[in-house]
Amino acid sequence: MKFVAIVGTNADFSYNRVLLQFMKKHFWRMAEIEIAEIKDLPAFSKDVPFEETTPVWKLKQQINAADGVIFSTPEYDHAVPAAMKSAVEWLSYQSKVLHGKPAMIVGVSYGRQASARAQQQMRKMLLSPDCNANLLSGNEVLIGNAAKVFSKDGRLTDQAYVDNLEKCFTNFVEYAELFKNASRGEQLMSVKRPMIEDAYISFPTGRLSLREVQAIFNTIPFEIDLIDADDRFAYYSDKPNREHVRNVNQLGETYSECHPPKAVPAVKAIIDSFKNGTKDVVARPLMMNGHRVLIRYYALRDVDGHYLGTIEFTGSVDDILNLAENGAWNADATSSASHGHAAPAPVEEPAPAMDATTGASEDADEEPAAPSEPAAPVMSAAVQRAEQAETDASTGASEAADDPEETDADAMTGASEN
Ligand SMILES: Cc1cc2nc3c(=O)[nH]c(=O)nc-3n(C[C@H](O)[C@H](O)[C@H](O)COP(=O)(O)O)c2cc1C
Repeated sequence: MKFVAIVGTNADFSYNRVLLQFMKKHFWRMAEIEIAEIKDLPAFSKDVPFEETTPVWKLKQQINAADGVIFSTPEYDHAVPAAMKSAVEWLSYQSKVLHGKPAMIVGVSYGRQASARAQQQMRKMLLSPDCNANLLSGNEVLIGNAAKVFSKDGRLTDQAYVDNLEKCFTNFVEYAELFKNASRGEQLMSVKRPMIEDAYISFPTGRLSLREVQAIFNTIPFEIDLIDADDRFAYYSDKPNREHVRNVNQLGETYSECHPPKAVPAVKAIIDSFKNGTKDVVARPLMMNGHRVLIRYYALRDVDGHYLGTIEFTGSVDDILNLAENGAWNADATSSASHGHAAPAPVEEPAPAMDATTGASEDADEEPAAPSEPAAPVMSAAVQRAEQAETDASTGASEAADDPEETDADAMTGASEN
């Protein structure tokens, strides 16, 4: 169980932060608590330039990857601090990141009412239609007299407060588990097996069952991601050891939601060029996870040429390049006279990158991303790599780069944004 715990103030010192740090240590066996700060968020305004909202994006990603959120609120003038209100406005504005998310409120203040009035307000905010969190009810963690109930090393010393906190947190873990199990069931349905198992799709050139379609997508040597015609992340193929780690919580997000704000202009440029018909393909060679990877974006169009979405193929091309480098396509000058055709190259099949039975990678260099890492955004490679080579789809020209991880690049031009 993994929770994000939001410190509800932008102050350098905060008893609410001390409480969350105490909870992180005290409950380490029950849950992983990641403490998130709001002090880097700009004050909420619809007019803040999109490129300046990276801290907001990061917080949303943390929440997306968590099983629940703990809000720890101080009380200022019988209400939540302005910084906390602003943070919640960011999380609710044009975003569903809190929708259905298990949430718990705790709070510390100086007064005897122990942030009760701020918590009431917090409760109303989280239940508003745009937040729509699944708020734990009936469990109140109200800690007053802030200056006297913590030790110098940050322990909560009042036993009655500790007992109540343990009871409420245990209830929250159980509460969040209910949602996790429910969504795990849905994920298994949607990711592990198609919804209608025995349906067939007829094509002019044959028919495929839905199971076959899914198996094909999961077997071809490229991983696939689809941004649909409404600019939403609609599908990814469920291959083991993907280069880009995805998670099902990202499905349905717009491409601007699932990319860092800095990356969005480049992604938009690719998609716009597909929509307006100026391009059909953009290809990008780059190094990923220790091997040579080719990413290709294709405009997906129906038979009438209408734009259906952007499909991204990502895969290691080490096997193919090794074959080429070992002369697989060269005519054998000693044994095969040329009769107008290149002689078949006497090479063995390359060792498969994956163990067919276990799915384990045999490539020592290949480091599958740790599951706890935030999911890589769709098409992030297009912009995370500034000086990496860019292949222009029309010319095939490639510009090699030294360190593709260092700076951001415009996916269409290769120009660095830094
Ligand atoms: C502007 C302001 C207003 C405050 N209003 C209240 C209040 O209404 N009720 C209360 O119990 N404490 C109030 N306090 C005291 C806070 O409870 C105290 O500063 C507490 O430490 C804030 O939490 P923090 O340490 O996590 O920032 C106020 C503090 C400030 C700075």
